Amino acid sequence: MYLQHFRLTETPFSLTPNTEFFFGLAPHVEAMQVLQTALQTGEGFIKVTGEVGTGKTLICRKLMNELPERFHCAYLPNPYLTPAELRWAVAMELGLKHSSQIDQQQLTGLIQQQLMALSAHGHSIILVLDEAQALPDDSLEALRLFTNLETESRKLLQVVLFAQPELDERLAMSKFRQLRQRITFSYCLRALTLDESAAYIQHRLKVAGSKGDELFTDVDAKRLAKAARGIPRLINILSHKALLVCFGEGASKISKQHVEAAIADTEDASLSRHLWLRRTLAAGVLISMVFAVLYWFKGGVV
Ligand SMILES: Nc1ncnc2c1ncn2[C@@H]1O[C@H](COP(=O)(O)OP(=O)(O)OP(=O)(O)O)[C@@H](O)[C@H]1O
Ligand SMILES: [Mg+2]
Repeated sequence: MYLQHFRLTETPFSLTPNTEFFFGLAPHVEAMQVLQTALQTGEGFIKVTGEVGTGKTLICRKLMNELPERFHCAYLPNPYLTPAELRWAVAMELGLKHSSQIDQQQLTGLIQQQLMALSAHGHSIILVLDEAQALPDDSLEALRLFTNLETESRKLLQVVLFAQPELDERLAMSKFRQLRQRITFSYCLRALTLDESAAYIQHRLKVAGSKGDELFTDVDAKRLAKAARGIPRLINILSHKALLVCFGEGASKISKQHVEAAIADTEDASLSRHLWLRRTLAAGVLISMVFAVLYWFKGGVV
């Protein structure tokens, strides 16, 4: 691909949430601080929400990588699970080996014993759920019951939820008010500002081995970021495409045209006024042609 052309050592704008590329932007640093504080204070429920592609999974991975030794972490990356499946998954993550013959009550008992045993060995146990908006209602309730497990002095299990904003809409329902009240720490990831986005692009290029001259000018980076509405995943997609177009032309630096070609090729990117006008005009011409043909055809038939 273009790595050699731009003298890069790895792909700068991969979509994988790779913590090596983590850039300490204000929203992500604040989210990490909220998570770390909440975990230190032993809160039962902690929640981080954010629009699609804002960096939740990346933060989730970074948090787990950086947990102090005393934390024992159970991780559920895909919690589309019934309450029973959720209990089995938690049991497995806690290292329980058990027979599938036992019923749900016995399973809950075993989970509690295991939590007590881990706690007695000085561990704090956290259950991390990514994509928590996918949890069915019953499983959200089962989760709440898990955090009822506690010793005289502290919770046996802390739960960290990473979710898209749909979760907040569901939690606003009255049937979830008990759970809602238990979420004492939460953080909502916002989109990046234009300055943050431009710095983000330069950071990823640097981690990928770019040296010296900037591939993107500040103006082009901001043009791209505006179309991406400050969403990191969209910024990655657009930057990667701009690099591809630039490489295809054999150019050494990104130009305005490369960025606009990337935007035009990406459905989810908002168009610049210029491109929007071009597309609208094209759509208008197309619609007029369809009407003209229909009119002519109707006239011909009659
Ligand atoms: N602070 C950051 N530093 C470096 N890369 C980031 C940062 N924030 C987001 N990214 C990158 O943006 C992309 C999208 O991030 P991620 O997959 O974590 O989003 P998400 O919020 O989990 O999305 P979804 O809701 O679809 O699960 C990834 O490539 C990730 O590495
Ligand atoms: Mg994710």
